Amino acid sequence: MIVKIKRGEDIQSYNVDNIEKRTTILEVLEVVKFYIDPTLSYRAQCRASICGTCAVKVNGNTVLACKTKALDIANNDEILIEPIGNLPVIKDLVVDHGNFLDKLKLAKSWFIPKEPLEKVYPEELETYDKETDCILCGICYSVCPVFQNDKNFGGPINFVKIFRFWKDKNDALGDERIEIAKLNNITSCIHCKYCTLSCPKQIQVEADILQLEFYGKQKGIIQQDQYINNFFGFGF
Ligand code: FES
Repeated sequence: MIVKIKRGEDIQSYNVDNIEKRTTILEVLEVVKFYIDPTLSYRAQCRASICGTCAVKVNGNTVLACKTKALDIANNDEILIEPIGNLPVIKDLVVDHGNFLDKLKLAKSWFIPKEPLEKVYPEELETYDKETDCILCGICYSVCPVFQNDKNFGGPINFVKIFRFWKDKNDALGDERIEIAKLNNITSCIHCKYCTLSCPKQIQVEADILQLEFYGKQKGIIQQDQYINNFFGFGF
């Protein structure tokens, strides 16, 4: 297989043999680094779709390298591997996650327990259980087109976190989470669904954003004209 890797302004080509059905993109990168070119840089840790560090763009699709089989995504026995978008490249396939981690801090993306804690029933947990699967890989952030026009947009990853804690009756912030979503420009979302389609954990990111927006509008936290403008793309 011909493996092309974007390295800075250049694209370098490597021939990698013995690709099997089960061979992942991460294993292809390991072959290149350990047997062909030790100067190649990429990130990976768990190899099990848990740590969220190995996201890369392969033939235009942003995926977890450890979860994606090379033969499944190859085009005519060729793959092009690039760093993910919307984040500054440090070297080769390694990007700086600082931007979206800073935004997660601004959005208070952590559990703030209320006192006393209440028992959570399975049917309640079900309404936000999927969102707890988020591994902070940044794929949804990297495919989001909104940043081209709104640098202050919180990004899909933020709204998944806001949704997860807002739905949790043991979280102390309650509707303050909707205020935070508004301050993170949730209405700039154009509902393209790229985030949902790319999420390696199958989280319905765009549907969560829609639900936060609807609730915010009903409660008067998010203004209707702001909502309609952004929903139909007029304010984008
Ligand atoms: S190496 Fe941890 S998610 Fe891929």
